[in-house]
Amino acid sequence: MSNIWVSAFVCRQPLRRSYVFRHGCLAGSDCTDDGNSYSQQCIAPTAFQKWFHPEGVIGTALGAAAKNALMILAEGTGTPLEAVHKAVPNGHRWMQVYMVKPRNDMLRHIRRVEAAGYQAIVLTIDDVPSRRISYSSLRGEFEFPASIDFVNLPRPVIGGTIADSVHQINTVTWDDVDWLKNVTRLPIILKGILTPEDAEIAVRHGVDGVYVSNHGGRTLDGTTASINALWDVVRAVRGRCEVYLDGGIRNGRDVYTALALGAKAVFIGRPAIYGLATNGSQGVQDVIEILTNELESTMALTGVTRVCDISPSYVVKQSYYETLNRPPCRQFSSKQLSVNFVG
Ligand SMILES: Cc1cc2nc3c(=O)[nH]c(=O)nc-3n(C[C@H](O)[C@H](O)[C@H](O)COP(=O)(O)O)c2cc1C
Repeated sequence: MSNIWVSAFVCRQPLRRSYVFRHGCLAGSDCTDDGNSYSQQCIAPTAFQKWFHPEGVIGTALGAAAKNALMILAEGTGTPLEAVHKAVPNGHRWMQVYMVKPRNDMLRHIRRVEAAGYQAIVLTIDDVPSRRISYSSLRGEFEFPASIDFVNLPRPVIGGTIADSVHQINTVTWDDVDWLKNVTRLPIILKGILTPEDAEIAVRHGVDGVYVSNHGGRTLDGTTASINALWDVVRAVRGRCEVYLDGGIRNGRDVYTALALGAKAVFIGRPAIYGLATNGSQGVQDVIEILTNELESTMALTGVTRVCDISPSYVVKQSYYETLNRPPCRQFSSKQLSVNFVG
């Protein structure tokens, strides 16, 4: 996942199994507003889930709810957002949206999301689908089906083409964020922040959560890995809102690393899809369980008893050990070095 390593401080405290996170206003391990505990691993929004398994997003929602894991529903799913809520009423769910103009269409959409009982709005700001530059996607020779249903868009597309849906999605500006904050009481999370500068502006615009993500590397080849951006974003935010991360989380140690660097929770995209494709809702449950078990093992093996005790001191950059392994107390000048190499 990254060049950040977990550093093992073994068994400094007796081990207890108490590492679930307490869910509060949003997704924080030490918020206790509603007294519930939730899985530390949450489900990122992914569109087109029926392509992976006939259960589609309802399967994912069932799997997530069974493991008490928060799920973000993607606007690009073919199942109506109301139907997901009805099928899995006990699920903890946020709704992902793209900004759409004119704003009246967007406003109607937000009211629909509120009425269906979603608990927060995740505004994706890092994707302009018609502008993607991803050679890895091109190499995969993926093509959308000729006709497609997007029932959760502000102006639904039924049996249209992918272009019909993409044309709705506008570029988002900070004015839109202000507007969104003003028209709804739901918390607003910005998905797709990768720099401390943007995080600072987002906080100043009053967002409730900053979601560090590079869209799974699917929009622009070569963007930074989100884990490498996390620490700077966390430092810029300085606790003024919650920070989340997705991208490349593939095992419990990755979860641990992200939490250590200041994420309140992590989201998984493709791992949940792999679970869904393999075994429907049960597969999603299994993936969450594997990650949870691995997180618990990593905690046990590093002497941490509670999620809120995972701190930056438990991880180091790979280069830290490279520095330590240099011969002690020997300073070479560049001249000496070249002599050594030539010799
Ligand atoms: C098939 C697929 C569909 C996706 N659809 C959306 C989407 O509709 N909206 C969105 O904000 N992100 C979407 N994403 C990005 C994910 O939310 C997430 O940022 C990314 O998958 C995280 O990386 P991971 O897959 O390595 O866990 C999609 C990702 C995949 C793989």
